[in-house]
Amino acid sequence: MHLFDVYPLYPIAPVRARGSYLWDDSGRQYLDLYGGHAVISIGHSHPHYVQRITEQLSKIAFYSNSVINPVQEAFAHKLGQMCGHEAFALFMCNSGAEANENALKIASFYNQRSKVVALKGSFHGRTSGAVAITDNPAIAAPINFKHHVVFVPHNDVAALEAAIDDQTCAVIIEGIQGVGGVHVASDVFWQTARHLCNLHNVVLISDSVQCGYGRSGKFFSHQFSGVEPDLISIAKGMGNGFPVAGVLIHPKFQPVHGMLGTTFGGNHLACAAALAVLEVIESENLIEHAAAMGQYLKTALSQIPGVKTVRGRGLMIGVVLEIPCAAVRDELLYQHGIFTGSSSDKYTMRLLPALNIGKRELDYFLEKFSLVMKKYAPAFTHE
Ligand SMILES: Cc1ncc(COP(=O)(O)O)c(C=O)c1O
Repeated sequence: MHLFDVYPLYPIAPVRARGSYLWDDSGRQYLDLYGGHAVISIGHSHPHYVQRITEQLSKIAFYSNSVINPVQEAFAHKLGQMCGHEAFALFMCNSGAEANENALKIASFYNQRSKVVALKGSFHGRTSGAVAITDNPAIAAPINFKHHVVFVPHNDVAALEAAIDDQTCAVIIEGIQGVGGVHVASDVFWQTARHLCNLHNVVLISDSVQCGYGRSGKFFSHQFSGVEPDLISIAKGMGNGFPVAGVLIHPKFQPVHGMLGTTFGGNHLACAAALAVLEVIESENLIEHAAAMGQYLKTALSQIPGVKTVRGRGLMIGVVLEIPCAAVRDELLYQHGIFTGSSSDKYTMRLLPALNIGKRELDYFLEKFSLVMKKYAPAFTHE
């Protein structure tokens, strides 16, 4: 059997990884400024993570959600303590799309409505509801167009006011748009969304799948605005590569048996991985570290000729180039062994390294990036 060919592949096969480095099958080393798409939060194969998963595997890896799972309870308790939304409840699932799909269902059960207000440039996943609220018709199939969705321009307060009404079920916002090119939702946009949602009994969802879990320099990027959403979806950095996701649910939502469910979500092994991630984030002060490293990186990047602007927060950074970034990213990868990320904007390169990346690794990247920019964008100088 061959693989269903939906991914354009780099001709590279990583076989080993540690911290912010990967090695391919020929032994070549790579520096990871991409974090496997914002997934690697505490570094590849962190020893504490490996130990916790290994120990759990040797005890019990899985049983269904029909029995008490102490690891799931321990994880929810720790997450509540660390994330700043202690009164919220947790529902666990397996991927970011599923987290958003469940968030939409919780919202719709709550107010019995179905219209969703989403943002231009959004990405929320590929399952039916999640892809319908994603601003990319190219990845939606006809079956996905049955949802009632209104897209408003990013950070456009007036458009948001015009879109939200008494028929609206939910508003969904990425605190920092990832795929869309690293656009930060403004404080006033969040605050207006909160106010309008209160006014019309609409559910406010923070899609924190990519920008959450400490990446922004706070546990959640919406926390910069002081706004408390009703539902928060999480995935990616939560498991450092282990597939695990969840929805954080405000206490105003009443659970009913059978309302949501999953076979794999929140299994013992996934919860051990997720607990290990939180323990490392806490013991190594990774949120503060991400904020500091992000500031360092942004300042340095903005001084490199050919860089137009640098967007983002913490270690979720969009580097907007004067030239399309594809050739620059290829050169970084093939000549210098550095993985970076792209976005839907061809000028914006995305950087999503592990939260514990060191200054040494960032300096190496900055040196090679400057070199590549000299080659590809020699005409651009800073005044
Ligand atoms: C903001 C956001 N939401 C949801 C998703 C979907 O997550 P998954 O691929 O785990 O389904 C992604 C994935 O890139 C994302 O960036």
